[in-house]
Amino acid sequence: MDKGIAFRCMPRLILPCLFLYIVNGQTYTDMSNLYTDIFTSHQKSFIPNSDFSTALNVTLKLYLLAIVRFDEVDETVDVSTGIKLTWADAGLNWNPSSYGNAEFIIVRHTDVWTPKFVLVNSVETYEPIGKDYDVFVTIYYNGSVSIANGDVMSAKCTANVYKFPFDSQTCDLNFVVWGISANNINLIADSYPVGLSFYTPNSDWSPESSTGETLLWNGYSNFKRTFTVKRAPLYYNIVVACPTILFSLLRSKTKNEQSFQILWIKDTMETAIISYTTSV
Ligand SMILES: *[C@@H]1O[C@H](CO)[C@@H](O)[C@H](O)[C@H]1NC(C)=O
Ligand SMILES: *[C@@H]1O[C@H](CO)[C@@H](O)[C@H](O)[C@H]1NC(C)=O
Repeated sequence: MDKGIAFRCMPRLILPCLFLYIVNGQTYTDMSNLYTDIFTSHQKSFIPNSDFSTALNVTLKLYLLAIVRFDEVDETVDVSTGIKLTWADAGLNWNPSSYGNAEFIIVRHTDVWTPKFVLVNSVETYEPIGKDYDVFVTIYYNGSVSIANGDVMSAKCTANVYKFPFDSQTCDLNFVVWGISANNINLIADSYPVGLSFYTPNSDWSPESSTGETLLWNGYSNFKRTFTVKRAPLYYNIVVACPTILFSLLRSKTKNEQSFQILWIKDTMETAIISYTTSV
């Protein structure tokens, strides 16, 4: 009997699914009407909050794309970083069924209000992340807006070379929305605040750990991203250790001396490998 019911219901369950699938394709006219309707009287100059007695929540996620350079002398790190922001714009929403079931629209970022983030511990100028390059935002019918930006950033980072070349370095990237206090904008870290899915490996440095959190900093909502990178000592073994070994071999005179030196090299390499593995 149970089987009979399941069998009879099946065509009824499938049909609405097919129907939804078929009518999901919006036409150019649908999108054009949608764009006209939502942007004709849209205001983008003020924070698009629904209730100005509380701050607008902006959710933030960072992606580490590449470690470009670490300078021990200047104590700076250059990292290529992507940043994804999501917030709710109270001035944007629509009923998808009026526009061929269009649940989202992708527009230029200049059409909407966007928060301007700066890296506070930058060693360069305080420019907004992405330098206002033309990027696109995705707007959902419920008013949720998201934007993805990115840049190569240079940040101050205190170097600790005590264990060189088996060292790790820990740096912070501190972001705020320039000029807007925590009373008006509240940053919220994504549940996975730091992503490595777009990371390009580097032969000098490899990421060890990464965390992201939001905190209050001088009345501003601050997103602090802390990451640790580990030096890959291969480069130093080739550039420093190998020539040293070769020169010492060339300087040896007798066969006996050479075999002694080979033993010594083997020993040194083993010590290096042990100190490397224990430092990992
Ligand atoms: C913003 O986030 C806070 C938590 O940090 C929450 O209590 C508040 O309800 C959120 N506001 C809105 C409008 O969602
Ligand atoms: C709006 O819709 C998007 C996509 O379905 C969803 O991810 C988001 O959580 C929604 N936002 C709100 C405020 O309901």
